Amino acid sequence: MCFRTLKDIDVNGKTVLLRADLNVPMKNNTVTDCMRIDRLKPTIKYLRKHNAKIIILSHYGRPNGKRVFDMSMGFIAPVLQTRWNVPVSFSPDTIGDHVKESIAHLPPKSIVLLENARFHKEEKKNDDKFAKELSKLADIYVNDAFSTSHRAHASMVGITKYLPSVAGLLMEEELNALNLALGAPEKPLLAVIGGSKVSTKLSVLENLIEKVDYLVLGGGMANTFLYAKGVSIGKSLCETNMANTARGIMEKAEKIGCKIILPKDVVITTEEIKEGMFSNIVDIDNIPDNALAVDIGPKSVKYIKKHLSSSKTVVWNGPLGVFEIKPFDNGTNEIAKAVARRTKNGNCSSIAGGGDTIAALENAGVANKFSYISTAGGAFLEWLEGKELPAISPLRKNVMSNAA
Ligand code: 3PG
Repeated sequence: MCFRTLKDIDVNGKTVLLRADLNVPMKNNTVTDCMRIDRLKPTIKYLRKHNAKIIILSHYGRPNGKRVFDMSMGFIAPVLQTRWNVPVSFSPDTIGDHVKESIAHLPPKSIVLLENARFHKEEKKNDDKFAKELSKLADIYVNDAFSTSHRAHASMVGITKYLPSVAGLLMEEELNALNLALGAPEKPLLAVIGGSKVSTKLSVLENLIEKVDYLVLGGGMANTFLYAKGVSIGKSLCETNMANTARGIMEKAEKIGCKIILPKDVVITTEEIKEGMFSNIVDIDNIPDNALAVDIGPKSVKYIKKHLSSSKTVVWNGPLGVFEIKPFDNGTNEIAKAVARRTKNGNCSSIAGGGDTIAALENAGVANKFSYISTAGGAFLEWLEGKELPAISPLRKNVMSNAA
């Protein structure tokens, strides 16, 4: 591992500032999905086992540097306590002598959750003074917030100047899995990229064609590629202004030996997209002018499965159809189940990430059957773009740090 991790440092009896990503889905101040909380548990267990005092810092939402009642971490502290089955106290402030003093009185193994880092405008500015203030609270900085690593904020980047800094166990797990997927994957490597717009995933596609053997496109973005090839796609979601870009990607992919896999048939509707409405399956050459493509059809499923059957690594981001509305989840479900089966039989490694993606895999009943599910949304996408994420660089072994 080319990153400094918890195992490279002695945390015994030390105070650790643990940067977590507790930006969890909430409704009426109740957490609706605990994945990010549950995945932090091994780090919490490790730190407590090694007698560390744990100060947890996270952001929640985008409060723009102001105190916003609904975005207080106070709502999350009791959830941590329940999910981890250990006492967790809450500090209504993030920095200051009074915070430091109250931490000083706590015994080893205690856990304190600080107030939302983004209540301070200095956080997003990666302000040096703020980073220094944060660093005064602890002896060691542990970054376990891979899903925030695309943000060059004070609690993610600036702070590493002032404290020995290492990756937590979740961060380590994410980095290892992602490296196996795109860094040194077993080939052939197949990527499934869905979602509505080419424009939001342009850099992802440009990077992936250089790395993968098969690039499966679905969702609205496949329509743009079909349109760019001259296919008449009716009223389907399409970014006509991205047609030239899509053509450029297809030409480059062909030159460098990446096969782009587009739908052969689609499920269409002519009405408003909602459950139980009229739908039909047509080949892509027969999409009526008044129709909308809402899912891939059975020929496309078969065609994708054929390429899947030889693939050793699968990376997935984005659904292949309007999976939120049945039966337009069918194509996504079929492919997700096929990936899960190959994974179970030891025929491939599968890595998925992104909010919508996890929801789609959960809907297919296979989210826990992939080799690895990333906790990240935006950071996963930026990583697929091939970018070095700003908060990851300071954890590299070859980057100078205060770490012992
Ligand atoms: C996320 O949920 O993707 C991270 O917590 C980052 O949140 P942000 O997009 O508000 O920076």
